[in-house]
Amino acid sequence: MSSEKMLDAGRRELITAGMALVASAGLPLPAFAKSRRLRPVPAGFLWGTATAAHQVEGNNIASDFWVAEHVAPTVFKEPSGDACDSFHRYEEDIAIVAKLGLDTYRYSIDWSRIEPEPGTISMAMLDHYKRMGETCRKHGVKPAITFHHFVSPKWIAMRGGWLEPDNAKRFADFCSLAARHLASDAHIAATLNEPDSVRQFRWFSSLGDKFLQFRSAVEAMEVAAAKATGSNRFSFYFNSESERQTATLISAHKQGYAAIKAERSNLPVGVCLAVMDYQGVGKRSRVAEARADVHGQWFEASKTGDFVGVQNYSRILIGPDGPLPVPEGAATSSVGLEVFPASLGNAVRTAHAATGLPVLVSENGIATNDDAVRVAYIDKALAGLGDAITDGVPVIGYIHWSLLDNFEWMSGYDPKFGLVSVDRKSFVRTIKPSGNYLGAIAKRGTI
Ligand code: BGC
Repeated sequence: MSSEKMLDAGRRELITAGMALVASAGLPLPAFAKSRRLRPVPAGFLWGTATAAHQVEGNNIASDFWVAEHVAPTVFKEPSGDACDSFHRYEEDIAIVAKLGLDTYRYSIDWSRIEPEPGTISMAMLDHYKRMGETCRKHGVKPAITFHHFVSPKWIAMRGGWLEPDNAKRFADFCSLAARHLASDAHIAATLNEPDSVRQFRWFSSLGDKFLQFRSAVEAMEVAAAKATGSNRFSFYFNSESERQTATLISAHKQGYAAIKAERSNLPVGVCLAVMDYQGVGKRSRVAEARADVHGQWFEASKTGDFVGVQNYSRILIGPDGPLPVPEGAATSSVGLEVFPASLGNAVRTAHAATGLPVLVSENGIATNDDAVRVAYIDKALAGLGDAITDGVPVIGYIHWSLLDNFEWMSGYDPKFGLVSVDRKSFVRTIKPSGNYLGAIAKRGTI
């Protein structure tokens, strides 16, 4: 997609300080002109980038996802393997965050490394994550710690995963333990990552067989994983029983929140939600129903929290039968989402209106092999975010997904979300122009 197309006609008036700053930093200017009035972000605004343990560490072999990646049939294009080897290279990653000029690193801790068997706690792994927090502090970076990012120990999946209500308490026990060791270095924390995403899937059946096939493929994979692990039911995170999962996950969030706060009451804790920008099309659109069904319970549950994490990647158009395909001619990212950066501003408004909470943009980004498209995307997304801030939405930070090109779950390593590329064999990291671009905005402090 050409960067010209990314421009919203109404916003092309003013060329401003942003260009000068980027230029003075010696960075290539994006082809389009920066053309808006720049507004300062609120005091204490967090500028960050994110990863998740399973997507970057490598060899998380005691996890449920590792099992799922290795059975046949599987929904994974390829296994995570060594990922970005961040388990060993985390200091290099954190140093890059600092070098870019960002002040926050959102990363997750891997429950399956810390508790590989029920009740067996690895002090060495707790120390590892403690060192990560300390390393962030050493580099002037604030740790934003996610306690659960999709992945659980395989023993949890073998005990029914999030379909088993008792696992909420097991998660809370893990939160207590981890918070005791790690909370003192944390700046902010999240219990769960996108626990609402499973609810979204059931809406996608209006888009055709692809999604129904995905559901049955997950079920076949769960059967294979149960057999491989000798369990009655191996419950994968992205299964189709979203009602039962939601009940357990809400309980897990609430108990996890209480457990973390009990260890450190002044640590801001929230839940990070997948807030797609649902937009109605036509008079008979089911948009209100979709919003209520996907977000309703979670916006309510997030009120047990000090902020709400908003993760937004695009909009979804909703017609009379549910989600519609991406409009003809619209640009799409390499994971098939419409390139629609204005969705971020809409998503933070929606989340704040529904919860009354301060909003942390805990993820926003685009899968593309063309880094100039990422630069243009960041620019537009931040413009919309700036408008929301101007209109009074209390936004406490912007965390870009992702620091690194990494393991994009079922899609494997093809989609590139990173501000930094990673050589798949040598693990050498190379900063992309988009990384410097976001860093320059962070240093400038206006959007
Ligand atoms: C997840 C990330 C994922 C990203 C891009 C979010 O749903 O939290 O783990 O890589 O989206 O698809």
